[in-house]
Amino acid sequence: MVRSSKKNWIFDLDGVIVFTDKFHYLAWKKMAKTIGIDLDEKTNNRLRGVSRADSLEIILEQYKGEPLSQKKKNELMEEKNNLYREYLNEMTPNDVSDDVKKTLRVLRERGDKLAIGSSSKNARLILEKVGLTDAFDEIADGTNIKKGKPDPEVFLKAAEFLHKAPEKCIAVDDAFSGIDAAKNANMKAIGIGDSARYEKADYKINKFSDLLAI
Ligand code: BG6
Ligand code: MG
Repeated sequence: MVRSSKKNWIFDLDGVIVFTDKFHYLAWKKMAKTIGIDLDEKTNNRLRGVSRADSLEIILEQYKGEPLSQKKKNELMEEKNNLYREYLNEMTPNDVSDDVKKTLRVLRERGDKLAIGSSSKNARLILEKVGLTDAFDEIADGTNIKKGKPDPEVFLKAAEFLHKAPEKCIAVDDAFSGIDAAKNANMKAIGIGDSARYEKADYKINKFSDLLAI
């Protein structure tokens, strides 16, 4: 197949480039236990791609106590984030698969533009720990936005950073909320992992290197 033009890729981070979603789960689960909630995998799946504050609200649907003040909610989020960052601090370049590393390299060599579009405020720390900061032309993350996915803000920000029109960008995301965000941003959406079974994804892939055939 002859490649007609260079492409502009916007990648979600957690669950696409690195598998930090298991760390999110462990940290939320520990935090939830302190307020009497047993977080299960089904609820955890609803947190995929969702901002920290929105994730807490989803977990609190199971909370049986008196309504919590914003101060208490902030403390719970901080507690979760501290636990989460303990896991992140242990990450190394070995936490990125060869499939992801090689594919990013090949896309770059082809002259494509590569950006991160992640709701996480820890995105830069993660990229630094796994040695991928320089693999991307631009990084849009939770520190650049007010609204998390499914709002299109973070993908639009990434397109703006790349100086590309949204409709010329392809977003890759493992979360249903990420696919919705990409469609809301008027981008092509590629589903991988969980979102590879979501009908709104324009393409569904099994492994990261399948991107090379798109
Ligand atoms: C997304 C994750 O990438 O980032 C969510 O899929 C997470 O699970 C969100 O809640 C915010 O992350 P952070 O690191 O800012 O708490
Ligand atoms: Mg994700």
